[in-house]
Amino acid sequence: MKQRVEKSGPRVLIKTFGCQMNKLDSALVESALQQAGFSLTKTSKQADVVILNTCSVREHAEQRVFSHIGNLRHLRKEKPQLIVAVIGCMAQRLASSLLESAGADIVCGPAQIPRLADMLKLTISQKCKAAAVTEKIRRGCGRADDEALDEFELVHDTDSAIPGQAFVRVMRGCDNFCSYCIVPYVRGPEVCRPPQAIVEQARRLAGGGIKQITLLGQRVNAYRYHAGEKTFCLADLFAMLSDIEGIEWIRFVTSYPSTEFFSEIVRAMAALPKVCNYLHLPAQSGSDRILAAMNRRYTGGQYMELLAEARGIVPDISVAGDFIVGFPGETEADFAATVDLCEKAEYKNCFVFRYSPRPGTGADRRLQDIVPAVVKKNRNVDLLAVQEKISSELAGRFLGGTVTVLVEGPSKKAATAGPPLPTAGHDCVQLAGRTQGDWITVFDGPRSLAGGFAEVAITSTSPFTLFGRVKGVQSSESRVQQDNRRK
Ligand code: SAH
Ligand code: SF4
Ligand code: F3S
Repeated sequence: MKQRVEKSGPRVLIKTFGCQMNKLDSALVESALQQAGFSLTKTSKQADVVILNTCSVREHAEQRVFSHIGNLRHLRKEKPQLIVAVIGCMAQRLASSLLESAGADIVCGPAQIPRLADMLKLTISQKCKAAAVTEKIRRGCGRADDEALDEFELVHDTDSAIPGQAFVRVMRGCDNFCSYCIVPYVRGPEVCRPPQAIVEQARRLAGGGIKQITLLGQRVNAYRYHAGEKTFCLADLFAMLSDIEGIEWIRFVTSYPSTEFFSEIVRAMAALPKVCNYLHLPAQSGSDRILAAMNRRYTGGQYMELLAEARGIVPDISVAGDFIVGFPGETEADFAATVDLCEKAEYKNCFVFRYSPRPGTGADRRLQDIVPAVVKKNRNVDLLAVQEKISSELAGRFLGGTVTVLVEGPSKKAATAGPPLPTAGHDCVQLAGRTQGDWITVFDGPRSLAGGFAEVAITSTSPFTLFGRVKGVQSSESRVQQDNRRK
């Protein structure tokens, strides 16, 4: 949808690391910079400015960024005018060291991105460094930055790099303080956006051709907004957003396992055809002892009860999870409980991370990172193997059936992920899309299908991918009718 005027100002490359929050911020920054006269480029060789939008969630994520900055310093020998700006969570966490020792010219925290265009202009014209981060982040970023962010979010595009799709933030920050997690210290306190702002933004996106919106929050299911007598929850947002013509699929990530609003959300999923039957509900561990040490406020049993409730209301719900292996003190018995939960949860897929101590978090202050690296690695591999079996079984159930997918574009790694597909006609490429349950689906078809819905007959499957043939391209109306019948 990007309705952007071609400009020939300084050329900017934005590289994004980390979660969808960062992808969304990068989309906002791209839109704002173009409006301010900058133009976008895809290579650092062509760029006058390189912006790294960074993540602090694990040490490895930060190391990758440091090595990128190292490469850019190298490039600077050939291009002394090159400006390096670090934004995102690392900027907030490590501002002074990035500016002083790593060689960044600009450091700008997640709450200050509305100022980035002006900071860049200043640095270009005055050849000076610039920094803007929140001083005491747990006290919030202050009214001026808060209001600037609200406004920024409303006036700029948040369409993702994928045609037809956009992110919509429903809340910023996090107050949950899981003991391992850096997010509350880099994104600040939880703030929910007013429903009207969210709906207005979604309407604008729909007007620009967006078909799928993904609602974002660190604990998106805890969304609440008080307006007079009424408290709006995520299920209310689903209903309001479902009324917007043009928006066909609504997703939401990430959910925190809690009974609060859970029934309302799952019932709304069952009742509203546009809400995708997909739930990302990280368990992190199956051991109650470890869950308590992680400050997750549920037991493995309570987690499984939530899943049972969701499956009782939405039988074909597709669930994804996250696990951390090697949390301080995690024994073989604790890990066995995690494997057990993973087997029983029947995830469509899950992400497995090795515990990485994050400075300043509760776990890092109180507990020693004692599980050896090799044990973490083995548990990671073992858990993924357990999941692969389950995913393979679940994927196989699609064989012989037909799925509706939102087409993303040419597939990136499909050629190696499964059997080769017959490619018919010169305009045909291998395309990838996702079902509403988030199953990646690969098939041959014209590029023009990207951003639209297609019906795909599934002819083979691998653990994490469905392969098939296009049966037809669906109009939105017939798709919603079909979804209604299914429900
Ligand atoms: N707010 C979301 C996502 C947080 S970060 C949620 O609560 O689920 C994404 C994932 O990174 C987490 O689910 C967790 O599995 C992992 N993670 C976070 N901190 C970590 C750490 N210190 N070490 C390893 N994995 C971590
Ligand atoms: Fe981190 Fe927990 Fe907040 Fe998720 S809910 S962002 S894991 S503190
Ligand atoms: Fe990383 Fe920040 Fe997201 S730490 S996971 S980019 S909120």
